Amino acid sequence: MAQGYAAAQFEQLRNYQNWPLFNDAPYISATHGQRFVNSYANRMAHNYGTLQEGEKLPTGSVLAKDSMTVTDEGNTHPGALFVMEKLAEGTSPETADWRYIMVMPDGSLFGDTMGDRADNVAYCHDCHEAVADRDYTFFVPEEYVVGN
Ligand code: HEC
Repeated sequence: MAQGYAAAQFEQLRNYQNWPLFNDAPYISATHGQRFVNSYANRMAHNYGTLQEGEKLPTGSVLAKDSMTVTDEGNTHPGALFVMEKLAEGTSPETADWRYIMVMPDGSLFGDTMGDRADNVAYCHDCHEAVADRDYTFFVPEEYVVGN
């Protein structure tokens, strides 16, 4: 899976599978195409799990969520990779300086709010806006949080 996404060549996503994982088992995300997902955060975003209301993640924070589908026969197929990257203050005021990227399983780019096909991923922030008080992050459903 990581190999496929790597074809998109986003340097900031290198080795994301070695980053801290915030869920203890893949869970189905209704909002990301009913796929099983995992939620990773890089070192800059180490506060991702403990953000208090009104707090923000620092510039350079990257949150990555890979996904897969499981067939009735139990076969798994890689799904898209969903990414949020915190840019320098003032870079993208309309998205609170979050950049949203979606990479297809073969590494092709579905959209990047700061690059190609930005229109394809404009809907990401529209929904994440619901959790503006947690710096636009929803976090992992409680029952899947590591340690719960
Ligand atoms: C309809 C609402 C909705 C849309 C649209 C949506 N998301 Fe999310 N997103 C969520 C929810 C809810 C969570 C946390 C629970 C989960 O994983 O499903 C989440 C979690 C995430 C996370 C982990 C960080 C966090 O918020 O905890 C990333 C990264 C992410 N989404 C990226 C994207 C990208 C990129 C897009 C667009 C391609 C997108 N999302 C579209 C609702 C949405």
